[in-house]
Amino acid sequence: MIDGKKTLFSGMQATGNLTIGNYLGALKNWITLDEEYQCFYSVVDLHSITVRQDPAELRKRARALLTLYIAAGLDPAKNCIYYQSHVSAHAELSWILNCFTYMGELNRMTQFKDKSAKHADNINAGLFTYPVLMAADILLFQADVVPVGIDQKQHLEITRDIAERFNNIYGDVFTIPEPYIGKVGAKIMSLQEPDKKMSKSDENLNASIYLMDDPDSIIRKFKRAVTDSDNQIIYSEDKPGIRNLIDIYSSVMNLTTDEVVKEFDQRQIIY
Ligand code: TRP
Repeated sequence: MIDGKKTLFSGMQATGNLTIGNYLGALKNWITLDEEYQCFYSVVDLHSITVRQDPAELRKRARALLTLYIAAGLDPAKNCIYYQSHVSAHAELSWILNCFTYMGELNRMTQFKDKSAKHADNINAGLFTYPVLMAADILLFQADVVPVGIDQKQHLEITRDIAERFNNIYGDVFTIPEPYIGKVGAKIMSLQEPDKKMSKSDENLNASIYLMDDPDSIIRKFKRAVTDSDNQIIYSEDKPGIRNLIDIYSSVMNLTTDEVVKEFDQRQIIY
């Protein structure tokens, strides 16, 4: 507890450019959390070197991400915004926690399996112990809550396991973090393959809208978005392309999906 508020921690990697998926799914929802929580948001640059990076390029992207945090509306006077690598305690605690984490646990991490398949020429120990550094990030601040996407849930669970194990041996050292369950941001899908999540690193540049895209490219990409061959605007599982566009519009405009459907129903669709 700081000033009677619970502590919240989250971080993002500065790899790839942020997309509206990152914004609508995470960043946008962080903005109001400072009312209820003491918030720490880190640019987790130490996590990024588990894959090869060009130092100057990484520094540039880390800075760009930090400025995007602020541009998106995170007030630096009310939130602690910082680079992970500038606080050496992250790496220090990570070492200690490494000694309380089992190889078998880390072996089960699906992200490790995916990343080692993708970077088969560089399966380094850092890639393997990545979740331990993430545990250190969270436990260092005695965070009560951590907003994470579904792909990071397993890492939050291992964080809890490590903290409980440590506490069982040494007493009440760490706060056991909970996943933040608040307003869930929309899950934004690729504009080209709407069954796939929109990604920072999609090779098809038309698949993702980047926060730093210029207005003309944004309009062009939306116009080229893959939909379907009938001319109805309905929100349905069978129409993932249209559904995704409705989700995006409703998040940006703060409307319900029903309101969006109604709005477009009254417009004539011209081909
Ligand atoms: N691993 C997270 C991701 O790739 C980023 C991250 C690092 C993080 N440390 C964290 C998220 C601590 C929440 C809390 O998305």
